[in-house]
Amino acid sequence: MARHLITSAIPYINGIKHLGNLVGSQLPADLYARYLRGRGHEVLFLCATDEHGTPAELAAAKAGKPVDEYCAEMWQVQADLAHGFGLSFDHYGRSSSPQNHKLTQHFAGVLADNGLIEERAETQMYSHEDGRFLPDRYIEGTCPNCGFESARGDQCDNCTKQLDPVDLINPHSTISGSTDLEMRETKHLYLLQSKLKDEIEAWIDQQEGWPVLTTSIAKKWLHDGDGLQDRGITRDLSWGVPVKRGDEDWPGMESKVFYVWFDAPIEYIACAQEWVDAGKGDDWARWWRTDEGADDVRYTQFMGKDNVPFHTLSFPATLIGSGEPWKRVDYLKSFNYLNYDGGQFSTSRGRGVFMDQALEILPADYWRWWLLSRAPETSDSEFTWQQFQTDVNKDLADVLGNFVSRVTKFCRSKFSEAVPAGGTFGPAEEALIEELQTRLAAYEKAMDAIEVRKSATELRAMWAAGNEYLQAAAPWKVFKEDPEQAAAQIRLALNLIRIYAVLSAPFIPNASAKLLSAMNTLDTGWPSDIRDAVTALPEGHVFTVPDNLFDKITDEQRDTWAERFAGTRD
Ligand code: MF3
Ligand code: ZN
Repeated sequence: MARHLITSAIPYINGIKHLGNLVGSQLPADLYARYLRGRGHEVLFLCATDEHGTPAELAAAKAGKPVDEYCAEMWQVQADLAHGFGLSFDHYGRSSSPQNHKLTQHFAGVLADNGLIEERAETQMYSHEDGRFLPDRYIEGTCPNCGFESARGDQCDNCTKQLDPVDLINPHSTISGSTDLEMRETKHLYLLQSKLKDEIEAWIDQQEGWPVLTTSIAKKWLHDGDGLQDRGITRDLSWGVPVKRGDEDWPGMESKVFYVWFDAPIEYIACAQEWVDAGKGDDWARWWRTDEGADDVRYTQFMGKDNVPFHTLSFPATLIGSGEPWKRVDYLKSFNYLNYDGGQFSTSRGRGVFMDQALEILPADYWRWWLLSRAPETSDSEFTWQQFQTDVNKDLADVLGNFVSRVTKFCRSKFSEAVPAGGTFGPAEEALIEELQTRLAAYEKAMDAIEVRKSATELRAMWAAGNEYLQAAAPWKVFKEDPEQAAAQIRLALNLIRIYAVLSAPFIPNASAKLLSAMNTLDTGWPSDIRDAVTALPEGHVFTVPDNLFDKITDEQRDTWAERFAGTRD
């Protein structure tokens, strides 16, 4: 048994996430957490809302609410949706928590003590019309790197380059639209990442087997241009973590807060403290401090590709620069983008399917299965209603659902709602057991490596093997001549239902729970040895025929939904 710390990139608080966001971090993280728990490992799986910065302020202003109230409400909305999708976080925290305030100020303090923070006078965009500085998303303009016209002040959404608002071409205020901007002098704190470049690079070079997507992005940021840049870590905003040096005030910084990307990853640690303070755990340090046992922890992070620079460079700079024994990530799984029907998902334009809408039209497992089995791992992938309908109908309804329904109904009609006795396994049963054993090894290997699509392919192949066996064995025919043999066939098939329920739980936890309950068993033991596992439900074990597991998506539904979600939200 090992200990696994798993974090998903923490979603911005400003609104409901779309399915592209979901499949890029939270959903695959949940898959992995559920899998590891299923294998008997100790798992701490954390996520939270990312509540600071200009996105939160802008969204609250748009909703006409004080920002703290807005965040509290949206946290609840997001927590409920996470629950609806079966995301099995041990704690869903908030980056605005007191724990994160304190820890963020602590890191700033030790980084300053270590000579890694410098005050710099600099010029920033000031808007006369708005009467304020315009940090990050309060300003938009053309990206100097790729020419994208609505690049934000802090990052270009098109080429993912991290930007400084003063770099933008033709900048304007996103509050008033005003272009009456002036460069004004103000003082900010900078984290001297350039001093940490060698240590960060050495640490990245040590990592074995990280996805190419992860390391290539990290290397690019280390070497492109002038290499790793010092980073402004304060902003002229009121909502956020007040700038302090540990517990001490920081002269000259009284009206400033830390930059959202400074405090957000620190929430990964603070979240473990929140988990303890909420009474759900009793020791956060054993997960996060290498001097208190976290050396034995394997830490895996999940995120979309735009988040990689912050997790390979900025956050490690905070941890390394502190000189304190903090746990660092062991494996960083990153994802490309999921596109929507010939374009991009877009939160600002409301394009695509959002988490609340998805659950309105279909249960979570349909989405979980499709999104994970088509996860954008090696390249961007695309959601189309046609593909969604085809995959769900085939994999879930025709293969898995149909197997369960045929087996249980046949048993009820010819024997009873109990595992039938009699007969023995012959060559066909032995061949199936062997095939499943081989496929299980492949499934475990893919899951251990967090190869999401491959895992889905292997799981689907196990479902299909059962179906093919059933088709060839044809107990409905055999029954007429040799009911004993048909009993043995059905006994095997009923046990396969339990095995499928256990193996499929990371992908489709609700269907899995339904199957276990229909099979009337609490035995969720991982079927490491298929030969043993096919007798887990003994002769005479009582079960019930479950309701239809998955309904097929009709052409009419498909067309209605395609139309409904073509334009903007609501
Ligand atoms: N909120 C960011 C996003 O959705 C992710 C923050 S991850 C963390 O892109 F490391 F900062 F926590
Ligand atoms: Zn760009």
